[in-house]
Amino acid sequence: MSSTSVRTVLVTGGAGYIGSHTVLELLKAGDNVVVIDNFDNSSPKALEVVHDLAGRECVLVEGDLGDADTVEAIFAEHDIDSVIHFAGLKAVGESVEVPMKYYRTNIGSTMTLLEAMDRHEVRRLVFSSSCTVYGDPETIPINEDTPLQASSPYGRTKLFIEEMLRDVADSNPEWRFSLLRYFNPVGAHESGRLGEDPTGIPNNLMPFIMQVAVGQRAKLSVFGNDYPTRDGTNIRDYIHVVDLAEGHLKALDELETGTGCRAFNLGTGTGSTVLEVVAAAGEAVGKPIPHEIVGRRAGDVIAIWADPEKATRELGWKSTRDLNDMCRDHWRWQEQNPAGFG
Ligand code: UD1
Repeated sequence: MSSTSVRTVLVTGGAGYIGSHTVLELLKAGDNVVVIDNFDNSSPKALEVVHDLAGRECVLVEGDLGDADTVEAIFAEHDIDSVIHFAGLKAVGESVEVPMKYYRTNIGSTMTLLEAMDRHEVRRLVFSSSCTVYGDPETIPINEDTPLQASSPYGRTKLFIEEMLRDVADSNPEWRFSLLRYFNPVGAHESGRLGEDPTGIPNNLMPFIMQVAVGQRAKLSVFGNDYPTRDGTNIRDYIHVVDLAEGHLKALDELETGTGCRAFNLGTGTGSTVLEVVAAAGEAVGKPIPHEIVGRRAGDVIAIWADPEKATRELGWKSTRDLNDMCRDHWRWQEQNPAGFG
């Protein structure tokens, strides 16, 4: 199939933060999209906004990817060409408390999906992996050959799924997998209408900062300033969610010729400290972000950023949005939607 023909892409978890931005890019590119989502940690309103922004709609199946009958029905009813697989649980702390829930949901549903794909001879999949599969790396920046080692049940589900996909690819050369290892996704669609809507108290830095900025929380706790980095705070590679979404389309295009199971880092290649993010967010918001230094958070890696060269070389993808763009767009979303999708 050439990249100019219309594809039908199944997007699992398509109402989530990265999923919804990716569905929007697919619809804009002219692809047909079928979404399966159980709205466990997402809102149907995200897809309503996507439809509005794209001027066309995807097919929505509300259901659980772990349910074999639901998944079978999707492949029976729709002529799916390829799959982008986002669906899964992603809270690191929760995964430590209830590991079996994470193994059942993330690994079990991926198996259900692969079995249905195999039955229907759909053998191209882009997988939502994470830089968490590198654990606490010895050398930075990180390329895809860095040894893998996850340090939480959540991280291990990503790692085990990667291993599973490698085995499946080895079993039949028709399978083609792209494992996209995201660094730290932040930002929002530039319209300010689509963005991240975490439930409860955000674990992640940018949503927390923005809830402080909008007045929902008094101040940010910065977890440690005694790390061996330029200002003592952790370094991460923050990447704009729209750059990430575009990476999925590039990976899907590339699977038309690329074979086997290959991993790609999706990051900017630039690391920012927590205090640099706080400063950039303050600029975007137009007032300083109240914050205080507290103790280290257990399990945080000191510093990590991507070597994204392989994705540029093999997928033709490169991030184009910098930290100021990420803060500006995330703030626009938060300011216009203080209660998220409500
Ligand atoms: C975490 C997960 C990672 C997951 C990612 C996105 C771990 C070890 N990794 O990454 O697997 O893919 O979220 O969901 O949990 N920070 C503060 N104050 C806060 C929140 C964060 O100082 O209130 C700091 C953290 O210490 C860290 C940085 O901000 O240095 C980024 O934290 P966060 O956004 O949670 O992402 P990661 O921990 O990098």
